[in-house]
Amino acid sequence: MSKSIVLTGITTTGTPHLGNYAGAIRPAINASKDEQVRPFYFLADYHALIKCNEPARVKQSSLEIAATWLALGLDTENAVFYRQSDVPEILELTWMLTCVTAKGLMNRAHAYKAAVAENGEAEGSDPDKGITMGLFSYPVLMAADILMFNANKVPVGKDQIQHIEMARDIASRFNHIYGEHFVLPEAVLADNAATLLGLDGRKMSKSYNNTIPLFEPEKKLRKLINKIKTNSLEPGEPKDTEGCTLFGIYQAFANPHEVNAIRARYAEGIAWGEMKQVLFEKINDEIAPARERYEALLQAPEHIETQLRLGAEKARAISGPFIKQLREAVGIAPITAG
Ligand code: TRP
Repeated sequence: MSKSIVLTGITTTGTPHLGNYAGAIRPAINASKDEQVRPFYFLADYHALIKCNEPARVKQSSLEIAATWLALGLDTENAVFYRQSDVPEILELTWMLTCVTAKGLMNRAHAYKAAVAENGEAEGSDPDKGITMGLFSYPVLMAADILMFNANKVPVGKDQIQHIEMARDIASRFNHIYGEHFVLPEAVLADNAATLLGLDGRKMSKSYNNTIPLFEPEKKLRKLINKIKTNSLEPGEPKDTEGCTLFGIYQAFANPHEVNAIRARYAEGIAWGEMKQVLFEKINDEIAPARERYEALLQAPEHIETQLRLGAEKARAISGPFIKQLREAVGIAPITAG
């Protein structure tokens, strides 16, 4: 039986945080060790340009994200780990797909609609203000990422499900016109994966500026955990685990037995200060060895670069012949054979 292809991309605009780790990176790294699947994981650096015009930040983020995945033990033998921009066939495919994508389909994309809504409906306001063609047609680039490797499964967060559905629509349209070239991808919602809350109690997200970076040095990690907002219940007063940021993060790092023990301590009225100490130790125990590898990797960027180039070679061994087939299919080919 051929392996199922699992593909996901990480936009290179930020520093990985605990929420990314528990929700996406850790499950993806575990999946990379599963012999039944062939994972394709990539740095979505062209996606970064949609929302970030700071070259230094895009570059630094690529370095940090690549180092993070390698430090956490991504199996690069089984997984294909690459940088999107190292596979130019993806951009070529983007254009082919753009030409079969209905504009009306893109009009319905949540990210675009939210940007239009933000511009307001007041008299004289421009609904297109600040909206680039990159933002508008970003679901097509994402479809190309996925269809280039005929991915069967795409693990994503809830906000991305619509994009996978769009990729299916676009693939069907292309198949209908030019013949069966693409597999229709399926979104996989990591439903048992944790969504962590951040320092201020809202969802941990770089857009809220409330994150705890994954590989913060030990001292800073402790400091940040101490900053997590709690209510003002005193030691000895019973506390609710439901909706508690500290408890939620703890749950993402501890086994069920440990979680039950902490639940009992909440009922007994554990002090917030103590809970923060318990949480710090739990996270630090899991992260510390990878943090050391991460710091070593940042000192040896050439090792990271080598890994990415090897990944790109593996990716292009597939994308090269496939784009040739697709060019033939749409009628872009040499006039004479040979
Ligand atoms: N757009 C995704 C995000 O913001 C990242 C991404 C880019 C992606 N290309 C992809 C995810 C292809 C899955 C498949 O999270």
